[in-house]
Amino acid sequence: MFLVSVKPFFSVLLVTLSLSLAVLLLSPPSSFFSPTSFSFTNERSYTDIWSVRRIVEWRPCKWWLRGHLPALPADSNGYIRVDCYGGLNQMRRDLCDGVGIARLLNATLVLPKFEVAAYWNESSGFADVFDVDYFIGQMNGYVKVAKELPPELASKEPYHVDCSKRKGQFDYIESVLPSLLEHHYISITPAMSQRRDRYPQYAKAALCQVCYNGLRLAKPVEKKARELLEAIPKPFLSLHLRFEPDMVAYSQCEYKGLSPTSLEAIEETRGDRKPWTGELAEIWRKRGKCPLTPRETALIFQALHIPTNTNIYLAAGDGLMELEGFTSVYTNVVTKSSFLTSDDFSSMHGNTKAALDYYVSINSDYYVATFFGNMDKMVAAMRAFNGKQRTLFLSRRAFAEFTYKGLEGKELNQALWKTHRDDFAMGRGSALSDCFCEFKL
Ligand SMILES: *[C@@H]1O[C@H](CO)[C@@H](O)[C@H](O)[C@H]1NC(C)=O
Ligand SMILES: *[C@@H]1O[C@H](CO)[C@@H](O)[C@H](O)[C@H]1NC(C)=O
Repeated sequence: MFLVSVKPFFSVLLVTLSLSLAVLLLSPPSSFFSPTSFSFTNERSYTDIWSVRRIVEWRPCKWWLRGHLPALPADSNGYIRVDCYGGLNQMRRDLCDGVGIARLLNATLVLPKFEVAAYWNESSGFADVFDVDYFIGQMNGYVKVAKELPPELASKEPYHVDCSKRKGQFDYIESVLPSLLEHHYISITPAMSQRRDRYPQYAKAALCQVCYNGLRLAKPVEKKARELLEAIPKPFLSLHLRFEPDMVAYSQCEYKGLSPTSLEAIEETRGDRKPWTGELAEIWRKRGKCPLTPRETALIFQALHIPTNTNIYLAAGDGLMELEGFTSVYTNVVTKSSFLTSDDFSSMHGNTKAALDYYVSINSDYYVATFFGNMDKMVAAMRAFNGKQRTLFLSRRAFAEFTYKGLEGKELNQALWKTHRDDFAMGRGSALSDCFCEFKL
């Protein structure tokens, strides 16, 4: 009897003790003497978003880390080259999928082709951006990689299987394995719609490994990136702001109060994508389809109590419109061009510049994205992989909803704060991929 009644009390005590210990360890000094700042209903106005206590964190799942893998099959079904197109982070996404496919098909991977000319108007391959030997070493045990083809295939171009154009979901074993067995050497561009759910775990593991643990920047690029990172005042927030003419045109959203120059630039890239009007425009915006302007971004930052003197690295290319809307409020803003010489710039191509932004962003103290593009997904996941959890996606959807409701000033700020506080506490958006597991704190 005695034992039975003591046990629950003891465990409650233990839980309480460990909770208070966790609170002590995890809370910033300013909130130590103000227990109210832990409660969601009674928040101090000076608490910034980064001091919000997290409930959920995303960490790499154990099953794909080394030590949990079955041995690679002795025989290979042939050689696969993954051909990647588009921007740096899109290519990287396709590489991840391609490596998963190679493992699924029990194939040997040759070095991927990074075809960038079409997008960046330049040529730079995989080895220009990523460290080849590191990649090969990290893939050991996950998938076979060959630096060179055997002599009988070396002079051949691979047979190209273009999966990117296939509609609907399809199965790589059914549709690609026959070509691989027939031609022995194929190249593929992965499709978005593959049946990844049917993958055996060892194929998923190869995908996770290459994506989050298999790539490191090539030495010269990493050196530049590290110099840049060192030059940025600390602590700092990396902001990936997207408000370029083409992306605004593609979004089919209309904005009030843009400058004539911006409107002209948008019109130039618009083509036949006319902006939605009336009720459709409202539905579209409420679905979160409209990029945030720099001014809106500054407004949300303030609602999140991010101090206006925060050091901010703007991870963005040229061509951002309406930037004064942000920099007139947040004045400590730097970009790559604040630190790199014009020599650096002329010797670098688009991919290398994108790689610098990527590197700085995975290593920054805080990362905020105004959109949810390939770079944002990759950076958020890499930060989660490295235990950097201060990552936030601004909610375009919430912003639209609140402003359509007519919220303004303090009311709008509070509504924005609550939404983002909850997103941050739950780690929403910080690692979406199948490779990460939820970890309750
Ligand atoms: C790949 O090898 C595994 C054994 O390691 C086998 O179970 C699987 O069926 C093979 N898949 C293909 C497509 O050859
Ligand atoms: C691509 O580069 C070529 C040669 O440098 C140049 O003539 C052409 O205008 C460029 N195209 C674009 C779209 O920038």
